[in-house]
Amino acid sequence: MLLVPGLVAAGAAVQLAPHTWLGPDGEPLPFQSDAELLEFLRQAEIVSAEELTSGVTRPFRVLLRHGDVEAYGVFRYVDERATRAKYASRRGELFFRDSAGFECAAYELSQLVNVRHVPPVVERTYDRKQGTLQVWVERVMTETERLAAGRSDPAVQRWNRQLNVMNVFDVLIGNIDRNRGNILIDEYWRVWFIDHTRAFRGSSRIDSQALVSIERGFWEGLQALAAADVRERLGAYLTERELRGLLQRAEGMVAHYRKLIRERGEAQVVYTY
Ligand SMILES: Nc1ncnc2c1ncn2[C@@H]1O[C@H](COP(=O)(O)OP(=O)(O)OP(=O)(O)O)[C@@H](O)[C@H]1O
Ligand SMILES: [Mg+2]
Repeated sequence: MLLVPGLVAAGAAVQLAPHTWLGPDGEPLPFQSDAELLEFLRQAEIVSAEELTSGVTRPFRVLLRHGDVEAYGVFRYVDERATRAKYASRRGELFFRDSAGFECAAYELSQLVNVRHVPPVVERTYDRKQGTLQVWVERVMTETERLAAGRSDPAVQRWNRQLNVMNVFDVLIGNIDRNRGNILIDEYWRVWFIDHTRAFRGSSRIDSQALVSIERGFWEGLQALAAADVRERLGAYLTERELRGLLQRAEGMVAHYRKLIRERGEAQVVYTY
């Protein structure tokens, strides 16, 4: 967990630039909305694929084509159940899943709670493997690469707040795998959250240490999060146990933040990007 002090301190907030999706040639893709991009991901032909060798579960980087539009994507297909014996470090859980379907669940949930940091992703089958296809974010560095290069966002508050959104989102989705390769940073210092195949633990436990403040849109989304919508949009990807864990964490987080707001005042807890 990354601790970020001074999140709600005074000072002009630096807006996140609106994002434009780029093709392999660096030119903007012709999509007017995420919905259009999702449709492209569903329909595009997978022209070629290469294994992303860095990973344990070897997702593919794929070239997509539909009409005269080309874009890169990432195809993930992991679907594993593990026992505690095999993964002793995953404390307290008898089993967990490592599932490509969680990518879709994380994206759908991000949309419900106004978190605009998860690249669009759909369900796809490729090479007889059932999995998910996500748009490739061009011109990024991973957090590992950022640290190695010794670079940092000149707008410190923008950076801290995005990491706060990430940490709070990880509590909500029960993510245990936010390593530095799963954080992408684009050329405008927007942070992208990727690789959620080890999220959605069944546990209702929340680490409230990470929950010192919250971005306003996220807070509004979290309070308005309805069980029926979660079941409708995420039901295809999660088991009943995973769904219940998620809904209980959401409830716990709302109670936690309401208490913080009562104690400290809203201005100390809720901030706007
Ligand atoms: N949507 C994306 N856009 C740009 N780069 C991506 C995207 N998805 C993955 N990558 C790149 O590929 C790398 C590996 O992908 P990913 O983290 O999904 O798989 P993994 O690391 O194999 O999974 P695990 O963390 O389970 O080992 C990432 O660290 C990142 O550099
Ligand atoms: Mg990864």
